[in-house]
Amino acid sequence: MPQLQSDIDDDAGAVNDSRTAEFAEAVLNGLAHERRSIPSRFLYDEIGSALFEDITKLDEYYPTRTEIGLLRAHGTEISECVGPVETLVEFGSGSSRKTRLLIEALNGLATYVPIDVSEAFLAEAAERLEADFESLTVSPVLGDFTKTRELNGIQPHRPLGFFSGSTIGNLNHQEAHAFLENAAQLLGEGSTFLIGVDLEKSLDVLIPAYDDAGGVTAAFSLNLLARVNRDLSGDFDTDRFAHRALYNARERRIEIYLESLADQIVHVLGQRFDFAEGERIHTENSHKYTVERFQDLAARAGWTPAQVWTDEAALFSLHLLLLP
Ligand code: AVJ
Repeated sequence: MPQLQSDIDDDAGAVNDSRTAEFAEAVLNGLAHERRSIPSRFLYDEIGSALFEDITKLDEYYPTRTEIGLLRAHGTEISECVGPVETLVEFGSGSSRKTRLLIEALNGLATYVPIDVSEAFLAEAAERLEADFESLTVSPVLGDFTKTRELNGIQPHRPLGFFSGSTIGNLNHQEAHAFLENAAQLLGEGSTFLIGVDLEKSLDVLIPAYDDAGGVTAAFSLNLLARVNRDLSGDFDTDRFAHRALYNARERRIEIYLESLADQIVHVLGQRFDFAEGERIHTENSHKYTVERFQDLAARAGWTPAQVWTDEAALFSLHLLLLP
């Protein structure tokens, strides 16, 4: 198992303490505001990550299978466009299925550098990929990929970046711009970047993807309140909140809320919060792009759009960007 680089304390207990402190601050802050919100990254504790995995298998949730289809159909062409590449840098815990497809397509990759906040995820990825790809070295970086400024002190030669799943959709335009600029810094001149981006589409398809009939997405959202109860001595009654997914056409994004179904009082870490019936906590955004809009955003952050692949139904796009 390779050494993990960490800017957080190495002791697992201390890491958990600092993570809980960060969660506490975000929740107390987010609930104190007039427009209540909790940042979406806190949806992914162990239970939330497992529920997200279930979401990716839903009939209604098209992004995962569509992106996998694009990687399968165009892997060889992607590899040809990218050219010989020694190092793959992945931003966030992508699904291992996508990573595998890409590594196979790249044919002879030497180093895989996953960046993730989960030490457990990194350890598992390292072990499995090194077992399956004989000549591959995994060199994980522990940390938040929006803030990563260096890769274990090494500047890889013309690496390929990979950011799958339309996770970029969680970021607003300013944050997405900053992310793309930082990625350019990190990957360096001559690098390439493969990014999965969800596309604007009919609400008949979009809304069910974020509000499925079986209630898996609702369970994923509501787990955030259950996590507050578990980690921050909260007393949310999760039966008296409902998952809401709306499309904000002006901002071109799905907005997800937890809506109070009654006038009620909730406590978190001894602090009292009053909820009126119908009052909402904003928990997530999922921005949608057209191919052109995303290419514009990338270009403003210094990247040159080189190629784009979309499926037949134009549900999802895979963009290849170059840094001249
Ligand atoms: C992981 C951010 C890509 O926006 O589609 C799915 C998260 N939330 N269903 C998305 C999500 C509810 C997902 N991303």
